[in-house]
Amino acid sequence: MQPNTDRSHTERLRDTIAATLTRAGQRTAALTDCVDEAELRAQHSPLMSPLVWDLAHIANQEELWLVRDVGGREPVRADIDDLYDAFKHARPNRPRLPLLDPAEARAYAGTVREKVLDVLERNPLRGNVLVEGGFAFGMIAQHEQQHDETMLATHQLRTGTAVLSAPTPPVATTVVRGEVVIPAGDFTMGTSTDPWALDNERPAHPVRVPAFAIDATPVSNAQYLAFVADGGYDRRELWSERGWSHRREAGLTAPQFWERDSDGQWWRRVFGVRRPLRPEQPVVHVCWFEAEAYAKWAGRRLPTEAEWEKAARYDPDTGRTRAYPWGDADPGPEHANLGQRHLEPADIGAYPAGASPAGVHQLIGDVWEWTSSGFHPYPGFRAFPYREYSEVFFGGDYRVLRGGSFGTDPVACRGTFRNWDHPIRRQIFAGFRLARTVGPEEA
Ligand code: AVJ
Ligand code: FE
Repeated sequence: MQPNTDRSHTERLRDTIAATLTRAGQRTAALTDCVDEAELRAQHSPLMSPLVWDLAHIANQEELWLVRDVGGREPVRADIDDLYDAFKHARPNRPRLPLLDPAEARAYAGTVREKVLDVLERNPLRGNVLVEGGFAFGMIAQHEQQHDETMLATHQLRTGTAVLSAPTPPVATTVVRGEVVIPAGDFTMGTSTDPWALDNERPAHPVRVPAFAIDATPVSNAQYLAFVADGGYDRRELWSERGWSHRREAGLTAPQFWERDSDGQWWRRVFGVRRPLRPEQPVVHVCWFEAEAYAKWAGRRLPTEAEWEKAARYDPDTGRTRAYPWGDADPGPEHANLGQRHLEPADIGAYPAGASPAGVHQLIGDVWEWTSSGFHPYPGFRAFPYREYSEVFFGGDYRVLRGGSFGTDPVACRGTFRNWDHPIRRQIFAGFRLARTVGPEEA
């Protein structure tokens, strides 16, 4: 490659990084400028941090990795590292910490970002593993966007009048029903080449997946409502032992944010606005145990993580594993409901351009999809650049979620991206789809 071409490649990468960081910064500002100081400091749920903690934590991670480590610069605020270390203070204790006030947190984030853009201008983006291909910058942009999605979940939990708004998602343009059979065979899971893939997505490795069938769509509100109406929450035999004791202790009777009025009509509270339940919208705000019970009721099961990724990435015509269900192109608004362009999942059939070659729809965007799998390392895993991103969670009481939601930015969503949470959690934007094992005569 000519030195000139090389330089312009690096310059293009710098532009991409700067634009990606700017998009994240604007989203963080939008999620925190729309509420007053008292609300920024408040804890809207014991599961969530005060928004003002996320705000300064985002900047502190950016300072640690990009100002100090990559940039080799002096600390901006070495005195606050401990306050914003997620492992040092459990969420319920965060409101009582001597946190930066909102104005200080915003000023701190602004100072850090200014320094980072200067570091970016001077960094060759090669020559060491941390910056190769812009990795550390991509990692920090993903970190900010992950916290933005968490802050969006905090907004969904807060009570009071609505402060967020967005256009309604596109409507269905095609009828999608039923399941798709994926024949047995090897496929390449994970990645060794995507420069911004995080450590838990690596390395690429072959996985033999027996034949299975997977639903062409996520489970809809109408389908889930049939389970509710059929007494699904009261039928012990549909629930696992852990699922049933959680269902009883937590008093679960329907997905979180569903409300039934005296006429028997179902509504859903969406960011402070009560809306009639949309039958064709993927169900959201269910925990893994609810998904497990629904699957039992339907005579099916959740897909494994490998099945989900094969359905999303494997192209049977070429035998290649691709980045997304639709191919290798970056996600556009025609492919998937991502990036908080909308504040809810789109109806089933709204993204025909995002379907896989086999005809599986809406794998990316709309709702995170629970899989049956725990969170484990791939063969050959190496923690990078820090153990606390993934490694310390392996083997814990987590289930893997795939595909991203309407609240996930494209930078933090791809065919290999792995999310995880406790099986009781439902404040996240999670739904699910069903699968089943098929015999050789069906495959
Ligand atoms: C990968 C979404 C489970 O939010 O707990 C944020 C991402 N890691 N800061 C989380 C993360 C460190 C993480 N999840
Ligand atoms: Fe974090």
